[in-house]
Amino acid sequence: MRIAVVTGAAGGMGRAITARLIADGLHVVGVDIDGAALLTMATDTDAFTPEAVDLTDPAAIAGLFDRITARFGGLDALVNNAGTCFMSDFPDIPADELTRQMQINFHSAFHCCQQAVKAMAGRPGVRKIVNISSNGAYNFDVFDPPHYRASKAAMDTLTKDLARRYARDKIAVNSLAPAMTETPLFNVLTADVLARAIAAMPHGAAMQPDEIAAWVSHLISPAGDICSGNVIILNQGRDVR
Ligand SMILES: NC(=O)c1ccc[n+]([C@@H]2O[C@H](COP(=O)([O-])OP(=O)(O)OC[C@H]3O[C@@H](n4cnc5c(N)ncnc54)[C@H](O)[C@@H]3O)[C@@H](O)[C@H]2O)c1
Repeated sequence: MRIAVVTGAAGGMGRAITARLIADGLHVVGVDIDGAALLTMATDTDAFTPEAVDLTDPAAIAGLFDRITARFGGLDALVNNAGTCFMSDFPDIPADELTRQMQINFHSAFHCCQQAVKAMAGRPGVRKIVNISSNGAYNFDVFDPPHYRASKAAMDTLTKDLARRYARDKIAVNSLAPAMTETPLFNVLTADVLARAIAAMPHGAAMQPDEIAAWVSHLISPAGDICSGNVIILNQGRDVR
């Protein structure tokens, strides 16, 4: 049985990724700070393990991976999906908001990767890390504030470092960088900003979480074995110049 960790599992994208990986035959350990929301998921399957963990706490992450290794003997895939977008704008971003943004979006993924590569040691085949980045790190026409952009750019540099570092150990590491995807995270935007951002999407509509989940599935499938170190932009071709 292949074991996957999906962080932010109770959110919009996390639920879709979890459902897709379970359908693909993996056992998913779904991690989220919102324990109550996790308990509403996948109650009719034993292919899902809910784990209520605050991913800004490195000790809690270490404990999580210790439990995973003790129960399953290791790990085959990690999807760093937990994240949020704080909306204060430069130059008036409070110091603690910058810290929280980096902790939730970047430090969490960094600590999970450190634990995951150890838990992946000795597992068969090509193991996978998929980091959910954002188009906001690359498109400077859209609304994203700089601390959000920077948290995702940092994540994508981590992707490339780990891809190179672990290529011969057969751990493939990639980022998916979606644009507007319809999830509860849309609530951080005003109606006006949201409408303009969706109007800028070439298909005239936001993307759906199951469309992103299909790309996660592809990278974790055998087709993804030969792909590592890439930041894959998912945006309907919006930013092609
Ligand atoms: N929705 C979009 O348009 C969009 C676009 C680009 C990138 N993203 C990225 O996709 C990822 C998923 O976002 P979403 O749109 O599904 O948002 P969401 O708010 O629906 O889900 C995020 C989940 O992360 C969890 N989380 C937040 N802080 C946590 C913590 N400290 N510990 C554990 N879990 C925590 C939340 O409880 C929530 O369930 C994020 O990294 C986001 O930056 C989203």
